[in-house]
Amino acid sequence: MIKETVVSGIRSTGKLHIGNYYGAVKNFVQMQHEYNCYFFIADLHSLTTHPTPQDLHGNIKQVLVEYLACGIDPETTTIYIQSDVPEVSELYLYLNMNAYLGELERATSFKDKVRANPDNVNAGLLTYPVLMAADILIHRATKVPVGKDQEQHLEMARTFGNRFNRLYSNEYFPEPYAFSYSNNLVKVPGLDGKGKMGKSEGEGNAVYLSDSPEVIRKKVSRAVTDSGPTAENQDKPEAIQNLFDLMKIVSSADTLAHFEEQYNKMAIRYGDFKKQLAEDMIVTTAPMRERINEIAADTAYLRQVAKHGALKARESAQKTIREVREIIGFKSF
Ligand code: ADP
Ligand code: TRP
Repeated sequence: MIKETVVSGIRSTGKLHIGNYYGAVKNFVQMQHEYNCYFFIADLHSLTTHPTPQDLHGNIKQVLVEYLACGIDPETTTIYIQSDVPEVSELYLYLNMNAYLGELERATSFKDKVRANPDNVNAGLLTYPVLMAADILIHRATKVPVGKDQEQHLEMARTFGNRFNRLYSNEYFPEPYAFSYSNNLVKVPGLDGKGKMGKSEGEGNAVYLSDSPEVIRKKVSRAVTDSGPTAENQDKPEAIQNLFDLMKIVSSADTLAHFEEQYNKMAIRYGDFKKQLAEDMIVTTAPMRERINEIAADTAYLRQVAKHGALKARESAQKTIREVREIIGFKSF
């Protein structure tokens, strides 16, 4: 039986947080035994925010180490660094010819970036979803494990693939869809009381896989709360709901039910609630945390993983590029 192909990546902008883990990497680990998987480090995408040469390599290494620490097995899965596969950039160029300014400007991620960094609205940022589509279509993947925030990018990848197919009257690219083992795509909230956990959301919002237990306890103890419920069984304000959502992810059903009941009876003590949440976060991240330093120290192993991954990824990418060039009409003399 032919296995379905899966592709996903994470930008190399630093350490992974538990949002990245529960939204994306946990699915990578589960999918690797069932599917034909390609997981990469999106270092080209990270150039949109202009890392310095001093930061670039360290950030790529960090993500590679954490992929391995989370349990992605380079024997069963192709793990590679995006810039090691130049075919991706070539496909990006072809897809750019059929990506329109209007649709790119409407992408929420682009509008957010423009708002956050009005001084760096570069063309790479605008065409970020085209490069992402190239990442996926280069292996003709159908399933893409990502968090909820990436859903619109997947829709754009389908648009670009379908447009290519229509233009050349060829059913070459299959449609890729966002995937999560939990039925809905995951959105892990942050600790600041407002929306999702993210690297760029400010200090203290994200809990990283590499954070020590002391750091996790401190961050969780500072999470935003309020002065407590004022009526029985009331709806929770966003900041409180976020902490309950986090507990739902890292704690047992019994623990969650206990604190839900306390909240509904107006008997909750946020200090105890946060202590429990922090301890459960520490326990769920422990296996990863313990392996990060050990793997990071093994340069020879990392080199071998990256080299082996690049070879396997290029084999698949070169086949696609050969076929795409033929479909477009390039011929050798
Ligand atoms: P960040 O927002 O911290 O910069 P990225 O945008 O690099 O993280 O996301 C990498 C992957 O992790 C994507 O698949 C994304 O959907 C997922 N992800 C990031 N933050 C969250 C979150 N808070 N909840 C669920 N998934 C997330
Ligand atoms: N845009 C994704 C993010 O911010 C990273 C990414 C780049 C990606 N290319 C991809 C994810 C291809 C899945 C498939 O996290």
